[in-house]
Amino acid sequence: MQKKELLYEGKGKKLYATDDKELLISEFKDDLTAFNAQKKGNEKGKGELNCKISTQLFEILTKEGIKTHLIKTLDENSQLIKKVSIIPIEVVVRNIATGSLTKRLGIKEGTVLPFTLAEFYYKDDALGDPLINDEHCLILNAVKNRADLQKIRELGVKINDILKPFFAKRDLKLVDFKVEFGLDKDGNILLADEISPDSCRFWDAKTNEKLDKDRFRQGIGEVKVAYEEVLKRILKA
Ligand code: TMP
Repeated sequence: MQKKELLYEGKGKKLYATDDKELLISEFKDDLTAFNAQKKGNEKGKGELNCKISTQLFEILTKEGIKTHLIKTLDENSQLIKKVSIIPIEVVVRNIATGSLTKRLGIKEGTVLPFTLAEFYYKDDALGDPLINDEHCLILNAVKNRADLQKIRELGVKINDILKPFFAKRDLKLVDFKVEFGLDKDGNILLADEISPDSCRFWDAKTNEKLDKDRFRQGIGEVKVAYEEVLKRILKA
């Protein structure tokens, strides 16, 4: 597979064309950003860790019947993926209240939610990725119809149903996470982007120590050590 021109550079990844017009190469970067890129950093080796973690999780989800854009890993920090048109909605799924949920609604940090909460955020940096409801998604033409919106909500919850017990067995609480979906050329909805400590919150089951990007957001430090710990636990049989 030949790597061709850079098509897009996001905050966490670069996307390259290949000699097959249906396939792209996704390269995971060491850059870290938070608060809509107002805070910037770099952690050498973070891209490789996220590539490995995300690949493992996508493979687990594939085995459970979730369709994804992943074809295979190419090297330490890149994946061969199917080209999709990204649905501009971030699906955030929550089990425990923290982050923007506690700030917006005053729910006490650490409250276990009575059921899985799925939220939609509009992917628009200029607007600061606002929380939106179903009607907003349709008015913005972010999805073509209610059925697709329902499908991405259900996929978010199903991914949680698979990953929450997987992490629980590894002494990690899956607090919340963000996923993105894309449409392939036939209109199928595929899980896209990544699932990594950049896009999830993981707390140690015994100590509640944060093992995710909150260490960077909150300036706790030892970001890479935490990501290494998450990978180690994922690889645990
Ligand atoms: P929040 O509490 O800040 O809304 O974040 C909820 C989850 O979504 C958390 O696991 C981090 C993830 N997330 C992203 O992946 N990208 C983002 O831009 C934001 C704001 C959150």
